[in-house]
Amino acid sequence: MNNFEFYSPTKVIFGKNVENNVGAEVKAWGGTKVLVHFGGSSAKTSGLLETAEASLRAAGIDYVLLGGVVPNPRLALVNEGIALCRSEGVDFILAVGGGSVIDSAKAIALGVKYDGDVWDFYDGLAEPKAALPTANILTLAAAGSETSEHTVITNENGWIKKGYGHTLCRPKFTMMNPELTYTLPAYQTACGIVDIMMHTLDRYFSPGGCNEMTDRIAEDVLKTVIQFGRIAMKNPVSYDARSEIMWAGSLSHNDLTGLGRAGDWAPHQLEHELSGYFDVAHGAGLAAVWGAWARYVYKADIMRFVRYGMNVWGLPMNYENPEETALEAIRVTEEYFTSIGMPITITELVGKEISDEVIAELTEKCTFFGTRTIGGLVILDKAEIADIYKAAR
Ligand code: NZQ
Ligand code: ZN
Repeated sequence: MNNFEFYSPTKVIFGKNVENNVGAEVKAWGGTKVLVHFGGSSAKTSGLLETAEASLRAAGIDYVLLGGVVPNPRLALVNEGIALCRSEGVDFILAVGGGSVIDSAKAIALGVKYDGDVWDFYDGLAEPKAALPTANILTLAAAGSETSEHTVITNENGWIKKGYGHTLCRPKFTMMNPELTYTLPAYQTACGIVDIMMHTLDRYFSPGGCNEMTDRIAEDVLKTVIQFGRIAMKNPVSYDARSEIMWAGSLSHNDLTGLGRAGDWAPHQLEHELSGYFDVAHGAGLAAVWGAWARYVYKADIMRFVRYGMNVWGLPMNYENPEETALEAIRVTEEYFTSIGMPITITELVGKEISDEVIAELTEKCTFFGTRTIGGLVILDKAEIADIYKAAR
C-alpha cells in the first residue's frame, strides 16, 4: 500500500425529500446571499428549482439565479457567473443539477476570489488561495463532482476541455435524493453508469503492490453499479437501484476506491478530448475508448485484468492461459456497455468514422500540445495515444 492522504470533508445528506431542507442547511454553513446555479430545463420542469428557492426563502436567505449550464460546461458562463457573484455580493453557491452544473459552480467559486483569469487554474498557471463555499443538490449520478475536488470546464477558445482539482473545490454539502434521478433519459442513466465504473477502473488499473482493502472496496463498487445499473435501465423508478447507483457514484470518485494506488486516468484523458471536440456525453466517450485502451495496455499487468474478470465479473480463471481470461474480462465489460446502449467505438459515439486528421488533432490536444504523457499502468506518449484513438475508431 502506497502512502496516502484521504480528505473527503463533504457532508452527505441522502434520501427522500432531503432537498426540502436546503435553505436551513445553507444557513448553517453561513450562506447569506446565494447564487443558485442550474442547467437547461430539467431542474425547472421537475419543480426542483422552485423547491430549492422556496426553502431558501423560508430560511430568510436572499439569492440570485443563473441557469443555462450545458453538458461540457463552458468558460463563458463561468465568467458570467463570476461577474454576477461580484456585483450581487454572493457568498455561497448552490448548484442544482448534474456534474456540469456542479463543475461550473466550482469554477465560479474559484474565480470570484481570484484577480486573474480563472482559466489560469486549468492551465496550471496559478494556485487558488481561496474560493467561495459551494454545495449541491444532485440530479444525476455520474461525475461524482458532488463530493470530488475536481472541476472540468470547456474553453470555447480552441474547444479545450480541462480538469482542475483542489481541496478548495470540495463542496460543503451534497443533497442526494435518488428520486430526483427518476426523470433521467435512459442514455444519461447509462452514461452515468459508465462514468461511475470508470472512476473506479481508472484507479484500479494502475501500478501498486498489495492494496487489498482498497481493491475490495473498488470491486464491490463496480459490482454494485453493474448489478443495479441493469435494474435501473429496465426500471427507471426503482428507488433501490437509483439509491445504490447514486451512492456508488460518490464513493467511486471521492478517492476511496484508489487509496494506496497511483491511478492511471488515461481513459479519462483520452475521453476529455472526444467530449471537448465532438460535444458528446462524457460517459459515452469513456465507453467508446476504454476497450481499445485496455487491449493496448493489458499485457503490462495481465494478472490484474484476470483478477478484475474473476472478482467483478465472476469469470473462471484459465490457468493454462491467463491472458485469455484477461481478454475475456475486457470483452464482457464492452458487452455490458453495449447492453445498456453505450457505444464501444468512436464511430458509434459520433455517428461517423473519424479521419486521421481529426485523430492527429485529438492527440495533439491530449498531450497538451506535446508537453505531457498520460497514463500510469503504461505511460503513453503521443504515438501511442494516436494508436489507441485509431484502435477505438
Ligand atoms: O441541463 P439540464 O436540462 O438539467 O439537462 C441535463 C443534461 O442535459 C440532464 N439532466 C440532469 N439531471 C437530470 C437531467 N435530465 C432529466 N432528469 C434529471 N434529473 O442530463 C444532461 C447531462 O448533465 P451533465 O451534468 O452534463 O452530466 P454529468 O453529471 O454526467 O456531468 C458531465 C460533466 O462532468 C465532467 C464531465 O467531463 C462532463 O463535463 N466530469 C466531472 C468530474 C468531476 N468534477 O469530478 C469527473 C468526471 O470524470 C467528469 O470528467
Ligand atoms: Zn468521469
